[in-house]
This record gives sequence, C-alpha cells and structure tokens, in this order.
Amino acid sequence: MKKLITLAAVMLAISAYSGQQAQANPEPVKLSSLAGESQVTDVRPADEMPVYPNRGKSVERTFVHQPPIIPHKATYSISTDKNGCLSCHSWDKAKRMKATPVDTSHVMDDKGTVKGMYYFCDQCHVPQAENKQQLVENTFN
Ligand code: HEC
Ligand code: HEC
Repeated sequence: MKKLITLAAVMLAISAYSGQQAQANPEPVKLSSLAGESQVTDVRPADEMPVYPNRGKSVERTFVHQPPIIPHKATYSISTDKNGCLSCHSWDKAKRMKATPVDTSHVMDDKGTVKGMYYFCDQCHVPQAENKQQLVENTFN
C-alpha cells in the first residue's frame, strides 16, 4: 500500500513538470474594476478609514418611520447564537450601554424579546460614515 502511494506521488510529480511551463515574461493582466484600470500586481493604497458621527449623536431621519441610520461602526456579528447589536440595544442592556433600546415594533413581549423578523438588524439599518472615498456613480433617481 505504502509503495503504491509513493508511486502515485512520483507520477504526480512527473506529470506536474511535464505540463506547460510558465511563460518567462507573462503579459500583464489588466483588470477593469471599481478600483479602476490596474494591474493585478499593483498595490493600491488602503481606503480611508470611515469616520462616524461623535458618540451620542444620532443622524436625523429623512422620512417618517425610516429605520434610523446607524451612527457608529456596524461590524458586530449577528448569528443564531449571538446578536452583537443586542448586546447594547436590547431592552435590558440599553440603559447601561447608553444606547437607544430597540423600537417597540421590534419586540413581542414586555421583556423585550426581539421578533424573528427584526433579528437581522442590518437588513434595515445601515451605517452612515463621513465618506472620504470617491463615490461611485449611479443612475438611481
Ligand atoms: C457597544 C454598544 C453598541 C453596539 C454593539 C451597537 N450599538 Fe447602535 N448605538 C449605540 C449607542 C451608544 C448609540 C447612540 C448614538 C451614539 O452614541 O453613537 C447607538 C445608536 C444606534 C442607532 C441610532 C438610533 C437612533 O435613534 O438614531 C441605530 C439604528 C443603531 N445604533 C443600530 C445598531 C445596530 C444595527 C447594531 C449592530 C450592527 C448596533 N447598533 C450595535 C451603541 C451600540
Ligand atoms: C424590518 C426592518 C427592521 C429590522 C430588521 C430592524 N429594525 Fe430597528 N427600526 C426599523 C424601523 C422602521 C424603525 C423606526 C420605527 C419608527 O419610527 O416607526 C426602527 C427603529 C430602531 C431604533 C430606534 C428606536 C427609537 O426609539 O428611536 C433602534 C435603536 C433600532 N431600530 C435598532 C434595531 C436593532 C438593534 C435591530 C436588530 C436586533 C433592528 N433595529 C432591526 C426597522 C427595522
């Protein structure tokens, strides 16, 4: 058995060498993406870090019943076991964390148990940052 495996490994090594050799001077691959025309080997500068409003400032809503925009980073994970957002916004923790408790529409009892359809917060709430990056054109109107 061991011999067979060694043989297979040797054959594999040989077949790898007999394949097409990599070109000495490969054509540069040009990619057209949101980052512009650049070569794969180009290292572009990192994006600017997003700047969120100062703590304690919520962003004014633009229409009635708009899901308020998140005035802080929104990279907290949401999984079936744990909801990072609720560790500050649940009814029992909000006061201590100085966060706004979730809206009454989001809960199903007087203890503040969040309804399933409101569990995935980022389905409706999006973060808003002072965006220093160039905006991507779009035709939405
Ligand atoms: C570490 C605690 C903390 C976590 C975690 C957190 N928030 Fe917040 N959130 C706050 C605080 C505090 C505020 C009040 C504004 C401020 O101080 O920046 C706030 C404000 C908000 C607001 C604005 C409310 C309004 O009336 O304008 C929304 C919406 C919000 N958070 C959603 C979320 C979502 C969605 C998540 C998960 C992705 C999340 N938050 C995670 C602390 C937190
Ligand atoms: C189905 C869409 C939806 C989902 C999912 C959702 N929200 Fe909301 N949320 C809203 C809307 C709409 C409002 C505004 C309610 C209004 O003014 O009628 C709101 C309001 C809020 C507010 C402000 C409450 C206040 O009194 O000003 C907070 C905080 C909040 N949501 C946090 C969360 C968190 C945390 C989650 C995840 C556990 C979440 N939301 C999930 C739609 C959603």
